[in-house]
Amino acid sequence: MRLLVTGGAGYVGSVTTAVLLEAGHEVTVLDDLSTGHRDAVPAGAGFVAGDVTEAGRVLAETAYDGVLHFAAKSLVGESVGDPASYWRANVGGSLALLDAVRSHGVSRFVFSSTAAVYGDPQAVPIVEDAVTRPTNPYGASKLAVDLMIETYARAYGFGGVSLRYFNVAGAYRGLGERHERETHLIPLVLEVAQGHREAVSVFGTDWPTDDGTCVRDYIHVEDLARAHLLALTAATPGEHLVCNLGNGIGFSVREVVDTARRVTGHPIPALEAPRRAGDPAVLVASSDRAHERLGWKPQHPDLTTVITDAWLFHGSSHARGAATQRPEAP
Ligand code: UFG
Repeated sequence: MRLLVTGGAGYVGSVTTAVLLEAGHEVTVLDDLSTGHRDAVPAGAGFVAGDVTEAGRVLAETAYDGVLHFAAKSLVGESVGDPASYWRANVGGSLALLDAVRSHGVSRFVFSSTAAVYGDPQAVPIVEDAVTRPTNPYGASKLAVDLMIETYARAYGFGGVSLRYFNVAGAYRGLGERHERETHLIPLVLEVAQGHREAVSVFGTDWPTDDGTCVRDYIHVEDLARAHLLALTAATPGEHLVCNLGNGIGFSVREVVDTARRVTGHPIPALEAPRRAGDPAVLVASSDRAHERLGWKPQHPDLTTVITDAWLFHGSSHARGAATQRPEAP
């Protein structure tokens, strides 16, 4: 297939581009490089510098079989302080893109959605039909786009798929997380092991969980990317399919830190800190629907593998294309 990937210079977008190219697809990346990196775009992909509102120009030039939409703002805390930029970029940008997809007759649309649409879940593991009550503008903006796709797919006949990611981590073939302002647990913990930070803060130790710290479902970025490949074939004209993507296993913040200690051999000091606003205690996915509808099964569900791959990437000084190997799990 000939595919357009928005946000293909970012973390999940670049790994998915690599996986799509390996599967034999032709890929063009559209990215404004506001948070992505030009050198993260895998060799073999075309590149157009621009934001999603320029997709119409790209789609007018060549016929595409599908669009995968990753370009978005994605920091929960930032979205609370500056909601306008989230509605503009995530909702306004997606609306412009969907209109371009519609007017150029693209038949498949795969969207990067998030577990943040559920807010504080009433039950875990979370199924796709659970109540969606986002607790921050980031989650609300992603939910708005899910709803938009639903109506567009039905009315205009393309196949839409929203993939709701849980906590993505790890790296793939020299492509990993490179955020300027890092807020995610695993890269922060690894920065301590690298000596770039003194300690990691544990946000809350009085949560209603076994060890008092928050529990999350960590999914390997390679497994996530493969789900996008499968979503392209599962996309059915006139239908909007929503799938959660996680492993169905929760790990606490303390378990993440302990695993990182084993992987890196570094003591990684952890300081108890107050709860972070907007954090739910437990987020764990039911991915039964992804198994059934996409035929998806994670290949790297083990937290040690996820953290080892992230560690190899961080240790490689972000060397693009570096041949990283996964050693035996410690
Ligand atoms: N945490 C700490 N210390 C830190 C950073 C994080 O204790 O320095 C804790 C958080 O409180 C949370 C857990 O580690 O309990 C994971 O936090 P992350 O910031 O890594 O990830 P989030 O769970 O907040 O959010 C991520 C994505 C969202 C997505 C969500 C879905 O960033 O987009 O997963 O599970 F919606």
